[in-house]
Amino acid sequence: MKMTSAVLAALVATNVAVTIPAQVKERPIPRVMKKDGRFALFVDDAPYLMLGAQVHNSSDWPAMLPKVWPAMEYLNVNTVEIPVYWEQFEPRRGQYDYTAIDTLLSEARRHRVRLVVLWFGTWKNGSQHYMPEWMKLAPDRYPHVVDKNGHAVDSPSPFATASLDADKSAFTAFMRRLKAADPQRTVIMVQVENEPGTWGSVRDYSAAAQKLFEAPVPPEVLSAMQVKAASPSPNWQAAFGPEAEVCFHAWAVARYVGQVAAAGKAAYPLPLYANAALRDPLKPGAPGSYESGGPTDNVLPIWKVAAPALDILAPDIYQNDPAAYLKVLELYHRDDNALFVPETGGAGNARFFFSALGLQAIGYSPFGMDYTRNRSAAEGSGPREAFLTPWAMNYRLIGPMQREIARLNFEGKLQAVAEEKGKLGETLPFGPWNAQVSYGASRNNRAVGNPEPTGRVLVAQLKDNQFLVAGYFCRVDFRPASAEQHRQFLRVEEGTYENGVFKFLRIWNGDETDWGLNFGAEPVVLRVSLATY
Ligand code: DGJ
Repeated sequence: MKMTSAVLAALVATNVAVTIPAQVKERPIPRVMKKDGRFALFVDDAPYLMLGAQVHNSSDWPAMLPKVWPAMEYLNVNTVEIPVYWEQFEPRRGQYDYTAIDTLLSEARRHRVRLVVLWFGTWKNGSQHYMPEWMKLAPDRYPHVVDKNGHAVDSPSPFATASLDADKSAFTAFMRRLKAADPQRTVIMVQVENEPGTWGSVRDYSAAAQKLFEAPVPPEVLSAMQVKAASPSPNWQAAFGPEAEVCFHAWAVARYVGQVAAAGKAAYPLPLYANAALRDPLKPGAPGSYESGGPTDNVLPIWKVAAPALDILAPDIYQNDPAAYLKVLELYHRDDNALFVPETGGAGNARFFFSALGLQAIGYSPFGMDYTRNRSAAEGSGPREAFLTPWAMNYRLIGPMQREIARLNFEGKLQAVAEEKGKLGETLPFGPWNAQVSYGASRNNRAVGNPEPTGRVLVAQLKDNQFLVAGYFCRVDFRPASAEQHRQFLRVEEGTYENGVFKFLRIWNGDETDWGLNFGAEPVVLRVSLATY
């Protein structure tokens, strides 16, 4: 019998142990790499840029997938982020249902996309809504967080050992299945839980939690947070003052998620990450005004030390203020953390994909990108893909050269920026050359900014005097760093990348170069060779 992916999927669906057929070539396991202070996600042994999109929360049911794939195709993604649900995976205690994941694997392969799978386990947006029924109906065994007044909150307790054991077992079973069923590495990364933490109480006030809150802070937490305490073994209050409760809860949640991650990773060492519901990055409110316990920017070192099996801590960015959006990117681009944006939204924010690229993001993924949603009256009968278009523009431009962009970024040769209102341009330094970006520039070179800030561009140095430039709604020119010299264009080639090779289309000259290189609404890639006179 010929082993097609459909046959393999059918075999897998019978819940028997999966053996990899000889014909399916086992590929290298994806991994996060760091070199010279820069990160890359390696897929098939080379840097990979996730041009991603995340589906709505209830879209991973076989009957819904036909409303997912056409949207993904329109977006030109290479990676789909999609949940798997604990309640679906373990409907009865200890009995695992592989149908959804097996369907997903075979359909993703058919549509030639990779997957990032989101484990909706103990936490989903701070609650336990995806726990299976048999857990929801046994709150004494699988307890909730208890608030200051002794009331149960709509959030699972990070001190619930039975919940932790159950999640570890289920997640391990899930990762084992992936390992057996996915030698192709269709799944390249897994999110452990979803926005873990708690709304409605800053921490758990159960007796067990209170005892630990009054106990000394683990020394590794003190040193990760660079606390210089007066006493040698301070408790949480003494060590962290007004931030004590949020730090304590972060430690508790991170320890729990870290154990789930470690158990899964022992079964199958794929890259793992946790995502954060953010606090305001510019004017953070007091603890309690944001989801407590998740990997918010103030407690990232606690998460790093308490959950080392997680490769990345990643921000879900829904900020509408551009300054706040950019600040979040900075906060999660750290020497110990690769930047990855697993969720974002707001059509006006699509240009910030380029800002993320400029900070060596390994991936980016707007949320809610499928056709399962019932459209509102305001959206009415317009084209159903309209809401996807701003994001699709990014991926249409980058898609054909995604591997080159990932490599150039990992090598530190790429800079990318997006327009901010009121900022008419900027200079990107590349040693002997400066790339000058301007927005809303007219023939006489006066930049006035676009009516809406939509400009975005990347510039990458291919050789000493040769650059790759691609973008929308902006002008790019080059100036020698030395003031005595002038730039001349030797050759400005418009082209496209095909299988890693630049395919020449035409030379730009005359009106197309005399006022700089102008990028509009169409995806344009230029290879620019420069000289001085
Ligand atoms: C953030 C969550 O992580 C997503 O699952 C989703 O609930 C969005 N918020 C909002 O729709």
